[in-house]
Amino acid sequence: MKWFKALNKIQIPGSGTIKTVNVNGKQLCIINDEENLTATQSHCPHAGGHFSGGWCKNGHLICPIHRFEYSLSTGRGAGGQGDYINIYPTDFREDGLYVGFEESWWSKLWG
Ligand code: FES
Repeated sequence: MKWFKALNKIQIPGSGTIKTVNVNGKQLCIINDEENLTATQSHCPHAGGHFSGGWCKNGHLICPIHRFEYSLSTGRGAGGQGDYINIYPTDFREDGLYVGFEESWWSKLWG
C-alpha cells in the first residue's frame, strides 16, 4: 500500500459534505458522513454522475442523478443495482488526511 496526502487538516470537509480531490493522478471524493471520512471514486458507475453533488444516508452514498445507493464501507451498490464503487483506505494523520493505493505487482518489482 502506498499512501498519498489528500488534504491538509483545514481542508477536510465538514460533516455531511463531500469534497473532490486529485490524489496520485486520480480524481476522488472525500466524504464526511457524521465524522467518518471515506474516499471513493468520483463518478457513478451507473451513468457517470459526479458524486460531489450527492449526499449520505444511513451509511450510504446517494448519487444525485438517479439516486443509486452505494455502501460507504464496502462500496457495494444497493440490492438490484449489481454494481459497486471503489473505496480507498484513509488515514488521518498529524498533518492531514492520507489515501492509500494498492501497489501493482509490476511497481513492486520495478519500483
Ligand atoms: S448516474 Fe448515478 S445513479 Fe445514475
